[in-house]
Amino acid sequence: MTLRLQADAAGIARAAALLRAGELVAFGTETVYGLGADATNDRAVAAIFAAKGRPHFNPLICHYPEAEAAFADVVPNDAARALAAAFWPGPLTLVLPRRVTSSVALLAGAGLDSLAVRIPADDTALDLLRQTARPVAAPSANRSGQVSPTTAEHVLAGLAGRIAAVLDSGPCPVGVESTVLDVTGPRPVLLRPGGLTCEALAAVIGPIVRGISPAQAEASRTLRSPGLLVSHYAPALPVRLNATEVAASEALLAFGAPLEGAGALFQLSASGDLAEAAANLFAGLRALDASGLAAIAVMPIPDIGLGLAINDRLQRAAAPRV
Ligand code: TXA
Ligand code: MG
Repeated sequence: MTLRLQADAAGIARAAALLRAGELVAFGTETVYGLGADATNDRAVAAIFAAKGRPHFNPLICHYPEAEAAFADVVPNDAARALAAAFWPGPLTLVLPRRVTSSVALLAGAGLDSLAVRIPADDTALDLLRQTARPVAAPSANRSGQVSPTTAEHVLAGLAGRIAAVLDSGPCPVGVESTVLDVTGPRPVLLRPGGLTCEALAAVIGPIVRGISPAQAEASRTLRSPGLLVSHYAPALPVRLNATEVAASEALLAFGAPLEGAGALFQLSASGDLAEAAANLFAGLRALDASGLAAIAVMPIPDIGLGLAINDRLQRAAAPRV
């Protein structure tokens, strides 16, 4: 039985108590719902991988209510401090050297000597993190390989019966995962495009180096960020990108004025607004996946701003399944 907790004082207190007791609790953030566990508890962290059915122990993001708490587990440098001041709380994850004194379970960081940390911009999540008073490891709250959840219903559709509770704080406003930036070296490297744009990052720390592309990663099998696995955000139906025409046997994921003739339609943003499209992306893929049609056709989305993160997720959804 998975409890569905309201985002009120009683619900948040219950969720924090469950986390402190080593249970799994899904909670909303501004990006997507996370599947949280006490990051200092090895068994709780291991339970995340079991509940998600993750084939590998990928390193997880640790969530904190404020930068100083995060910087107790990792060693910040000037770039990290500037980024934290500019963008936290917000959809930015920083990969930094792990402190030897950190009590975060080695499994949470997949045994790496770096750790990914972030402060989510959601009042309920921040309250939960404050009351839990421990770092909370949280990957997206979906079964491995499936689309990330942006509502409590999505979480329950995949994980009901496998986790203790979901704290329902409503739909996630950003809708794609956080931007992951490796700031361990002299030049920051973008490991995963996400809810914070490269343009915004560049305004604070200058031009950003892109991490290895998913294609290069697949070729070399030297994944720096396992979230770069090529087929990672996959709906069940095949996905066809950059559609300029659509068949009646297909479901259309539209952006702007929709193509005519589709068997089903989900509008990401009628006005062509990339923030609105990001917020609707995973719900749209889920809705069209349930259409019973032969495939999902996706209209072109410009590769600027949040379009970079949207296209990254769509390319994974369209990649050959591995
Ligand atoms: O928006 C988000 O980031 C959501 C919410 C719940 O906060 N979380 C999320 O977690 O997307 P997850 O586990 O699905 O993705 C974590 C990403 C992966 O791409 C992982 O490889 C990368 O962060 N990552 C974590 N630790 C890392 C490390 N030490 N070095 C490099 N990449 C790391
Ligand atoms: Mg995920």
